[in-house]
Amino acid sequence: MITCHCNYITEREIEDVVIGFLREDPWQLVVPNKVYHEMGRRGRCCGCFPSVIDIIIRTTVEFHRHLKGGASEELETVVSKLDELRTRLTAARNKVFVA
Ligand code: FES
Repeated sequence: MITCHCNYITEREIEDVVIGFLREDPWQLVVPNKVYHEMGRRGRCCGCFPSVIDIIIRTTVEFHRHLKGGASEELETVVSKLDELRTRLTAARNKVFVA
């Protein structure tokens, strides 16, 4: 599925880059610009970045669950906080577009 229509980047390509980063360092911070730089691309309209962030979070959580052989309490706490943050950011973003 195409995630970035400006650069024709698929969800799978983003997942592969994120997994590559996490294999180098499982605790590094992965952000959209870092992923795009690795691909030799750059954000143009950046409208895809919220989706890219969701892919990064999902891929990172799955990577760590697989690494640990299952969920740990610390991981679930981090995931819970990320979900809260994502919910707040989505609500704030939707307010901006509605206003
Ligand atoms: S949709 Fe990804 S930069 Fe525009």
